[in-house]
Amino acid sequence: MKRDFLKLSDLSLGELNALFERTKELKALRKARKVVTTLQGRTLVLVFEKSSTRTRLSFEAAMAQLGGHAIVLPVADSQLSRGESVADTARVMSGYADAIMLRTFEDARLAEFARHASVPLINGLTDGGHPVQLLADLFTLIEKFGKLEGLKVAFVGDGSSNMGHSWVEAADLFRIDLRIASPEGYRPKGSVKAFSPQDAVKGVDVVATDVWTSMGQEKEKAARLAAFKGYIVDASLMSLAAPHAVVLHCLPAHRGEEITDDVLEGPKSVVWAEAENRMHVQKALLEKLILEGQSS
Ligand code: CP
Ligand code: NVA
Repeated sequence: MKRDFLKLSDLSLGELNALFERTKELKALRKARKVVTTLQGRTLVLVFEKSSTRTRLSFEAAMAQLGGHAIVLPVADSQLSRGESVADTARVMSGYADAIMLRTFEDARLAEFARHASVPLINGLTDGGHPVQLLADLFTLIEKFGKLEGLKVAFVGDGSSNMGHSWVEAADLFRIDLRIASPEGYRPKGSVKAFSPQDAVKGVDVVATDVWTSMGQEKEKAARLAAFKGYIVDASLMSLAAPHAVVLHCLPAHRGEEITDDVLEGPKSVVWAEAENRMHVQKALLEKLILEGQSS
């Protein structure tokens, strides 16, 4: 049976913890310049219906470094852009690939793709979630704090975004004490307590943020800039967090909008490790989905 990774909870807590253990090994092997060839002869197809730098490069590098190969399908040149159905595309692609990653808009399109693909499908970001980013974020926090349970995390920004929703899911799974500060109209689905940015960050171990205008929302930019006024992560907001607090941002950042340059470049920022960790966690994820799928 193929296993998809459309949301964090598609893996059990035990599987996620094992994945973080394997990530640690793979990262150490990479740092020691040891060659790992667990995915020799395997192919990953990457489909992007939205832009990407990190996701594309980290998946391509992950496959290459594990002895496999990644193919990027530029959607604009593909038959998807001329109306070929997701169902037909997924079936054909499954004949070539050992796993597929899709970055798209609606979650329903991802689910439809998963239904028709006979190989594992990975969510490379939708409007509703960004679970591979959360894997990297959580691993970065494990490296920093040695644990996740009980950590106090403030997410300041667009709680209704893919990152907001994936943080809510992560907090439930790992018993993270999550406070979300988002303006009215931009809060995550469900009954989440509303915090001001100042109340949310008080004494926290981690401050996480993301852009105010996600891909596909460009027309709302002016309204969003007005709504999110006062939600910037700056030095004065950070001074309310615990002295050991770290800052996460999945990038790309809009310096001067959701985060200031000095915070992003400052000593509390772990964003560069967070970006690098995308590759290490995705190696562990690809091994799990591709190799376990073939042993059953
Ligand atoms: N954080 C992230 O997913 O970055 P890209 O959009 O560059 O892939
Ligand atoms: N929320 C952002 C994340 C980018 C990685 C977006 O969807 O554009």
